[in-house]
Amino acid sequence: MQVKPPVITVDGPSGTGKGTLCSQVSRWLQWNLLDSGALYRILALLAQRENIDVSNAVEVAGLARTELDVQFIAVAGEPSIKVTLDGADIDAQIRKEDCGNAASQLGGYVEVREAILGWQRSFQRPPGLVADGRDMGTVVFPAAELKIFLTASPEERAKRRYKQLNVKGIDVSFQNLLTEMAERDNRDKQRNISPLRPAEDAIVIDTSASGIENVFAQVSALIKQRFELPV
Ligand code: C5P
Repeated sequence: MQVKPPVITVDGPSGTGKGTLCSQVSRWLQWNLLDSGALYRILALLAQRENIDVSNAVEVAGLARTELDVQFIAVAGEPSIKVTLDGADIDAQIRKEDCGNAASQLGGYVEVREAILGWQRSFQRPPGLVADGRDMGTVVFPAAELKIFLTASPEERAKRRYKQLNVKGIDVSFQNLLTEMAERDNRDKQRNISPLRPAEDAIVIDTSASGIENVFAQVSALIKQRFELPV
């Protein structure tokens, strides 16, 4: 039997530092990265481009295909990654709040989640994968060797997201962001299919009062315990 490449899953609501942590861990280990939220956002963007209503779950699900060339590219000197679709930099477009809201709506449809499952799993390639999302440890990679679940207070998460969007030149109001994030979190937690929750074997880390260096130190120590690393 062929041994599958190892997987580390990092789940949790937005603004907990998942993206930065995953990007740092994947660079450190030289493993592949999957930002699953970006796939939902890309579907929202494609639906917009093709004039498909996001409430049309069946048609949107039809847009999810493994042959769409999505790359997560590390940018030198920047903590986050850049997403490209068929070679084009679409990062700023998919990070906008309208795409985020549509992505959150799409996340509630069974058809879309099922269509996206194989696409997400196609990122499990050698030497290993770091997967960032809401249901990576519970549904997409239930056999992952290490599962992390990040949490943080709503205010702290909104502050971080606000800063992140500002750095990317995206202008938003803090109050709107706080309200929208709370709505999205509730939707993610309450939905029937793949609700946001830690896997039973996940290690939960509260990042409210910790800088990313501290979180990275904790997670890299766990990785060293769990995997035999060449270094
Ligand atoms: O993580 P990000 O904010 O980019 O994700 C956008 C939306 O996609 C989330 O609000 C969530 O509703 C949905 N999502 C999901 N399952 C995932 C990743 C994202 O439902 N694994």
